[in-house]
Amino acid sequence: MALEFLYRQPVRIRFGTGSIRALGEEIRSIGATRCLVVCDRFLRPTVEAMQKEIPEIAAVFSDVEENPQLRGVIEAAKLVRETHADAVVGIGGGSTMDTAKFTAAIARENADALACFQGGIPFPETRFPMIAVPTTAGTGSEVTQVSVISHGREKKTINNPVFMPTLAIVDPGLTLTVPPRTTMNTGLDAMAHALEGYWSKNHQPISDLCAIEAVRLVLENLETAYRDGTNLAARENMSLAALLGGMSFALPKTAGSHACSYPLSEDYHLPHGEACAFTLDSFVRINADERLETLCKKAGLSGTEELAERIKALKKLAGLRMTLADLGEVDMDKLCRDAAKHPLMRNNPVAMDEAELRNLFEALK
Ligand SMILES: NC(=O)c1ccc[n+]([C@@H]2O[C@H](COP(=O)([O-])OP(=O)(O)OC[C@H]3O[C@@H](n4cnc5c(N)ncnc54)[C@H](O)[C@@H]3O)[C@@H](O)[C@H]2O)c1
Ligand SMILES: [Fe+2]
Repeated sequence: MALEFLYRQPVRIRFGTGSIRALGEEIRSIGATRCLVVCDRFLRPTVEAMQKEIPEIAAVFSDVEENPQLRGVIEAAKLVRETHADAVVGIGGGSTMDTAKFTAAIARENADALACFQGGIPFPETRFPMIAVPTTAGTGSEVTQVSVISHGREKKTINNPVFMPTLAIVDPGLTLTVPPRTTMNTGLDAMAHALEGYWSKNHQPISDLCAIEAVRLVLENLETAYRDGTNLAARENMSLAALLGGMSFALPKTAGSHACSYPLSEDYHLPHGEACAFTLDSFVRINADERLETLCKKAGLSGTEELAERIKALKKLAGLRMTLADLGEVDMDKLCRDAAKHPLMRNNPVAMDEAELRNLFEALK
């Protein structure tokens, strides 16, 4: 078969410990004069301190929830209008960056957030420039056109070019304060992005290279970052792994483990990374083929079996939930039905219907 692909990565990336110090300069470089900073709650004091040195920061919105809600977007967009801001900066984990992306997308034309969320109207054609600054090493949201937002219990992954950040400032120093369990959850999310981008039905060569390197970096650094959060070298490598993980799935999209993560997050309240990791080693075994063997060898492993065992060992180390018993009372029919019908399941290289998913989950009893 002839080799053909279309690769695109439109985000300018500024990577390095201390790179957050360039925020003022970068806000000006994207042509903004007044911006709204959306940030994690614990970062609010830091951003308020920055505000004294960066006059372009017009307002700060820090009311972002985990599994961010649309109401946060609506409030942030209101603040953009009230302060006449012309750009949005998101400094935080995936929840914060996704809120900032959605806000930048709707605020310029004052579009109806709920109608856009529900697909009743298209997202506006013009939006405000947006800078993404990750403070966890996991989602890769800084380089994807994805925003994951919930409205009530409905959690939606919206894939739209309108969400592509203008610029990513990746400063691993910002991740030094991430607690161990979140370090593990987010690190395994990065691993899931890399593996699923690689085995996705839409995989392609440049994304594959990012995936192989991301898997290698996670295997070499996640345990250290988990055990000693102050280890800057491990944090730097994990931030790079998360960035490359984002670039691995940005075009091919994720597959089975992310499809299963939605019911696991919605009904059993697992944080995103933990929910993806729940089935990741099972999917390594299900999707094992020659291509995956190649990735394993290039990432320094003996093969797919070792990869599955290493993922399991990382989950065990952090005490993540790994069995159905850990989830409490499980509605198996609903879990399998919801996972099977999730659109990302169609990206999995091995077709998985409800019955096959039941086998997967039964083996995790
Ligand atoms: N847009 C995308 O491409 C994409 C990809 C994967 C996941 N997601 C979404 O991102 C969200 C998960 O993001 P996440 O895993 O980064 O978690 P998160 O943003 O929900 O943050 C988890 C917790 O860590 C805290 N935190 C963040 N940075 C910290 C720091 N430096 N020090 C201390 N605490 C810190 C947060 O306040 C929060 O309590 C989910 O909604 C998921 O669906 C989006
Ligand atoms: Fe993810």
